[in-house]
Amino acid sequence: MGIVQNNYYSVVFLFSPLWCYGEMGKTISETNLVNHQNCFIFDVQVMVVMRTWNTSKGTTVQRVLFGRSNVYMLFNETYRLLVDTGAKTDGKKLLRRLVSTGKPDGVIMTHTHFDHMGNAGILKDRYAPVFIVHEAEKGYLESGNIPLPEGSCRWTRFISRLGAEKVPHWFQSRGVRADIFFRERYNLEAFGFNAYVLHTYGHSPGSASVIIDNEMALVGDALMGVPGMLFPPYADNIPAVVQSWKKLLDTGCHTFHPAHGFPVGRKKLELAYKRRTH
Ligand SMILES: [Fe+2]
Repeated sequence: MGIVQNNYYSVVFLFSPLWCYGEMGKTISETNLVNHQNCFIFDVQVMVVMRTWNTSKGTTVQRVLFGRSNVYMLFNETYRLLVDTGAKTDGKKLLRRLVSTGKPDGVIMTHTHFDHMGNAGILKDRYAPVFIVHEAEKGYLESGNIPLPEGSCRWTRFISRLGAEKVPHWFQSRGVRADIFFRERYNLEAFGFNAYVLHTYGHSPGSASVIIDNEMALVGDALMGVPGMLFPPYADNIPAVVQSWKKLLDTGCHTFHPAHGFPVGRKKLELAYKRRTH
């Protein structure tokens, strides 16, 4: 079963530039979103897709995109920080959602794969937010061209190499200037958050997670939230992914929000970490 799921998600990942995920509410137009806020579909969308979480210290996190690649927004009274920009195919949807959330002051990149930085260019044009990225991926953010990650099993290794050889242009994005870059951690105090960005590499060289109030973490592709699959099917450095899981557990966070799938509880990650290390 695990192998079947792994293969399925590998194919989804590789062919995702063509993938327009049918998340709930995809038929809602911008007009509906803005003017018909009492309609049932809008309520479902707000509850299911644009779900909001609050930490005990009052930080709000909202999921802005859900499905192909999750995108989150951190809020306080003054600032809004977007975490990732999603796949290019979700660009219009993202801009519609930002009409209701408000413009982002900054964008934190968990990493620069095409399904996370696909809309960096249009966001920079429209809102001019500052872009925060790990220094190992500064060049990739600016060129829009990061190498495809290695597969973490034989099948995904094959898929990754095939993609890199045959259709490399599918995985390129429009580059943007990196305004802020960091090495091990970057404190978000300057934006009024009790939060920081932590280097949790392995999936890619500069993969990073946003740690909020030491309660919630937005982890990008450091782990998956797909039923039956926690380990990323693609990773440049497999042992480093496991070490990054330890770093994430050491933060004390109780919930980990991946860029693909659903939130993962601490116990599930602890169990997976133990299985990988014992
Ligand atoms: Fe990725």
